[in-house]
Amino acid sequence: MGVEVSLRSVTRKYASAMALDEVSLDVEPGSAVALMGPSGAGKSTLLHLVGAMDPPDAGEIVVDGERVHDLSRRGLDRYRRRIGFVFQRFHLLPALSVLDNVLAPVLPRRVDFDRRARAMELLEAVGLADRASALPSRLSGGQQQRVAIARALIARPPLLLADEPTGNLDSATGHEIVDLLLTLREEHGMTMLMATHNPELAAVCDRVVRMKDGKVVSDERLTPSQDVLDRIGRLG
Ligand SMILES: Nc1ncnc2c1ncn2[C@@H]1O[C@H](COP(=O)(O)OP(=O)(O)O)[C@@H](O)[C@H]1O
Ligand SMILES: [Mg+2]
Repeated sequence: MGVEVSLRSVTRKYASAMALDEVSLDVEPGSAVALMGPSGAGKSTLLHLVGAMDPPDAGEIVVDGERVHDLSRRGLDRYRRRIGFVFQRFHLLPALSVLDNVLAPVLPRRVDFDRRARAMELLEAVGLADRASALPSRLSGGQQQRVAIARALIARPPLLLADEPTGNLDSATGHEIVDLLLTLREEHGMTMLMATHNPELAAVCDRVVRMKDGKVVSDERLTPSQDVLDRIGRLG
């Protein structure tokens, strides 16, 4: 159910920097790509552009056959609703319960599934069904990121964008989140594009794209390691 994502000579300039400098990248449906590289390389900018939170200055982004920046306002709304986004700093709504945070993206919308049942299913999947009524401030960082991941998946997105999803977590908690993303990917088959400095997260991806100074400097396909195969086996 994942979508294809293509960037063709995408450029994004800021007054201070060339954040993306003619970047081209083709991501196959259902594949997971780790974007790595030093701070300032352009990883977040790339994710924001693919998420249509910001337009490119030149070039084009084509997702599932649609040129994203040609979409009408309504088309863009529809497009953004099909993307799950996970941030480094969780970005949960502090006044809402865990369950309501997961439901928030679909509450104002007509959907063809039972919202609450789906939210509870996802909370189950991320191991937090028993904390559904808690406020985010009562949870650890790792638990908050699990809620954020459940929220990102509520609308069954064919594309998940994650910006340093383990960046604010200690390594043991980061490991749990890597396992969780791996499981969810096995179950949902969405395309995943993740900026990360975490070698463990990169190792469970199909491909590692390294960036520097707004350019792609290397693009490596990974064959799954025995460790990853064992973990998928254990999950199934
Ligand atoms: N909103 C912005 N305004 C000005 N410059 C920005 C903005 N966002 C990013 N940049 C600049 O663009 C470059 C790439 O940033 P970013 O995409 O955040 O890199 P990364 O996520 O790899 O650390 C950096 O030089 C950064 O300072
Ligand atoms: Mg960044």
